Amino acid sequence: MMNQQTRSSVNPLAWWKSCSIYQIYPRSFQDSDGDGVGDLPGLLSRVDYLAWLGVGAVWLSPVYRSPMVDFGYDISDYTDIDPLFGTLADFERVVDALHERRIRLILDVVPNHTSDQHSWFIESRSSRDNPRRDWYVWADPGPDGLPPNNWLSRFGGSAWEWDERTGQYYYHAFLREQPDLNWHNPAVREAFADVLRFWLRRGVDGFRVDASAVLAEDPLLRDDPPNPDFDAEMPPTDKFKRVFTDIRPETMSYIEEMRAVLDAFPDRVLLGEVQEGFRHIGQFYGGERPRFHLPLNSLLLETDWDAASIAARIDQYINAIPDGAWPVWVLGGHDKPRIATRVGLQQARIAAMLLFTLSGTPIFFEGDEIGMPSSQISSEDACDPFEIRVPGFGLNRDPERAPMRWDASEKAGFTTGEPWLPLGDDVAQRNVAFERGDERSLLSLYRQLIALRQTEPALLAGDFRPLRSRGNVLLFRRCTRDRQLLIALNVSDGSETVSLRGGGMVRLNTLLDRIGEPVDSQLYLRPNEGVIAESCVPERANE
Ligand code: GLC
Ligand code: MG
Repeated sequence: MMNQQTRSSVNPLAWWKSCSIYQIYPRSFQDSDGDGVGDLPGLLSRVDYLAWLGVGAVWLSPVYRSPMVDFGYDISDYTDIDPLFGTLADFERVVDALHERRIRLILDVVPNHTSDQHSWFIESRSSRDNPRRDWYVWADPGPDGLPPNNWLSRFGGSAWEWDERTGQYYYHAFLREQPDLNWHNPAVREAFADVLRFWLRRGVDGFRVDASAVLAEDPLLRDDPPNPDFDAEMPPTDKFKRVFTDIRPETMSYIEEMRAVLDAFPDRVLLGEVQEGFRHIGQFYGGERPRFHLPLNSLLLETDWDAASIAARIDQYINAIPDGAWPVWVLGGHDKPRIATRVGLQQARIAAMLLFTLSGTPIFFEGDEIGMPSSQISSEDACDPFEIRVPGFGLNRDPERAPMRWDASEKAGFTTGEPWLPLGDDVAQRNVAFERGDERSLLSLYRQLIALRQTEPALLAGDFRPLRSRGNVLLFRRCTRDRQLLIALNVSDGSETVSLRGGGMVRLNTLLDRIGEPVDSQLYLRPNEGVIAESCVPERANE
């Protein structure tokens, strides 16, 4: 406590509020040994890039021991590194190298389930009276030997898998190779607390909690009700509403317990994956007993791309989080189609400017900063188990997981071998080296936006004041007592003009060619252009 107070009197904003967070999917970031899969020594060789880019924290997808059925989200040992990625010593080198550059490390952890190869599960399934039997969710068959109830796996089929040897079913929210831990069991929670402490003691600065909403299931195993919106076009996994497995009250208290473990270490952060969009996001902050610092919000990836829709989404989200809660915005990730493909390369600049000028912590995914597209991968070539088990609904996550492109060489500088996923199109012009050499590239824009947010008090902590969007221009202000910024984003491919009450100056524009330009009573925006302007107040700003 004392510690935190002293710290906050020096720097009033916690590090996780002031930094930009960069998600690394280690399989696809940098390979060092030619096996076509990224690894920790590879990551280590790229930390200078992260420092150059200016990010303040890395969120690292799982590198634990894993059979890799779900590419690391199926963990068989929580306290070791998979040989594919390296060793614990490599991990420590990465932590040190990041910390030397003042970059924090946030580890992805997966508390909801383990791999079926985890020793806990091997013991649990060995007999009904094994001491770890109750570490997983076991149930007797329903009538006629059918599964105990109608719960569906998110990755296809029943969520129950029959276990011949012990004559019961076990529950898995995801793959059958990912049995759910029984979070109602205090011994499981204590074991997981030890996992967190193991990494906290190794200097990890926080965690991103995977699938946090589904930790606990209804102990009565009640059937889920039909989904009234379901139709044949939707994946069969959406047939029921997951009332009895998602966001249970007990789950909330288990998240509070995790937070308490974290809070015993100074200055750490807890991020949480929240599946259900913005409607329930507020609860994940908690109240008197805190839950996540940052429940992840991916609304920017789901909104229709017009000024009214974006403004509405921002408003709905801000209204859905508690007073005083710190917002967080995610622009990409290993489960989401790429923003550059969703909105196009020109609007990807607008999306970037939006990400770094909204109020709250910005998070983006490796490769978004160079405009990487979702790569084209046919259903037959899919590696993603989600696509393989629920084919034909566009659920494949391989496209966003294509390897990072570092240069224009044959394997894009990612590997000397055969990349585990195809590199995708347009590598020659869309790679780090090429864009570093172009001072008006998307990469240069990211770097400038990150730097501007870092140094501009109005962007870091100023009030967020929405304005009525006019036509195709999304408008808002960020203000402190003595600083005023107007953000004007033209989401269309026609030119637009915003009338102002008084003039000012362009701080940054998405095409990076108007910095310092004076603005008088009209702010002109070219097609697909966004501008951050200082001291400008639009007409009818209502204040
Ligand atoms: C989360 C992860 C996803 C994984 C799933 C099961 O949603 O982000 O990649 O497949 O959990 O662990
Ligand atoms: Mg669960």
